[in-house]
Amino acid sequence: MKNIKNEFKSVFGSDPEVIASSPGRVNIIGEHTDYHEGFVLPAAIDKRIYVALKARSDKKIKLYSKSFRKIFEVEISTIKPIENSWTNYILGVVHQMLERTLSIRGGFNLYIDGDIPSGAGLSSSAAVECAVGWGLNELFSLELTREEVAKIGQKAEHTFAGVMCGIMDQFASVLGLEDSVLQLDCRSLEYNYFSLNLGEFTFLLLNTNVAHSLADSEYNSRREQTEKGVKWLQEKYPYLRTLRDANTRMLQEVVLPKNKNTFIKCNYVVKENARLLRACAALEAGDLDTLGKLIFESHTGLSAEYDVSCEELDFLVEQAKEYPSQVLGARMMGGGFGGCTINLVHQAFLAEFVEKTSARYYEKFGVGLTPISVNIDRGSMIHESIIK
Ligand code: GLA
Repeated sequence: MKNIKNEFKSVFGSDPEVIASSPGRVNIIGEHTDYHEGFVLPAAIDKRIYVALKARSDKKIKLYSKSFRKIFEVEISTIKPIENSWTNYILGVVHQMLERTLSIRGGFNLYIDGDIPSGAGLSSSAAVECAVGWGLNELFSLELTREEVAKIGQKAEHTFAGVMCGIMDQFASVLGLEDSVLQLDCRSLEYNYFSLNLGEFTFLLLNTNVAHSLADSEYNSRREQTEKGVKWLQEKYPYLRTLRDANTRMLQEVVLPKNKNTFIKCNYVVKENARLLRACAALEAGDLDTLGKLIFESHTGLSAEYDVSCEELDFLVEQAKEYPSQVLGARMMGGGFGGCTINLVHQAFLAEFVEKTSARYYEKFGVGLTPISVNIDRGSMIHESIIK
């Protein structure tokens, strides 16, 4: 985003005071576990959202998005969610800051641009929230920690975008580190960095280029359904807080007799947490075969049990299974219902894998497949600041 400074100037007529950015993320394993206080294993990637900001002397907020090419203007005291608007991820963050009585001293101009494909399951919305949060933190000297910015972003998503997401995406976006994945305990928010030594293998993303429209409502309904299971468990085990505290035996005893489907979904979460811990041990031991198997198992759980996959994602994972010595694991990534698969592929096989799979995908769905190579990158950054 070399030109963001000039672009800001051409829209708003003066130089910005702060330029900040936040990345998208991948997640190796541990899907739909974060909002049950489980574990996740994400990493920030070298695709980012950039914001340029300058404080105003009045109480107006003016936003310009390069993708939408227009200025949106609002008085700071009147901000509210707007259905299906790109502004929600930005204004939701401002709203959270005001709720926390942080001293946003006045209005501001904001220019936003980025290179994270949206709808690909790479958390472009969390990257927007965190870039805005980190940028405003600098602009108004709010002295927020990275963790606080992540929490503000998550809450903005709940209140302004209506998605009851967990903390994984925002946390990875603010706290990512080059060459490391982040093992995050979503209960305590303690985390460890693991260096990713994949030898001759690498992670490759394949974007289905489909984003099924029910994704947000289905996400919220999975959350509600599994939280219902937790309520039932609590009648028998009052100390239990979330599915993090549950095991399969408890679920068989309490949830299965009440509702089989809820049992299957809750049990998926319990099993996915266990898979993540085994995957981290495999990563530490350099055992990529085991890591790959766990990744495949995770997909089976997401598709057949948690029911958040789709035909296109399942097809890509089946394709990956045709090359057992070159593709060690593959699964859908993120919330589901479209977006990308993440594949653990031998580097020498990348080109052939992409070529064969793209041809078959096109033949089946009439849609092009987009391979996305990503490098692991740093979390939120301030690129320029004249704030003292
Ligand atoms: C989305 C949410 C995350 C997480 C994943 C599924 O990306 O934003 O909080 O729940 O789905 O693992």
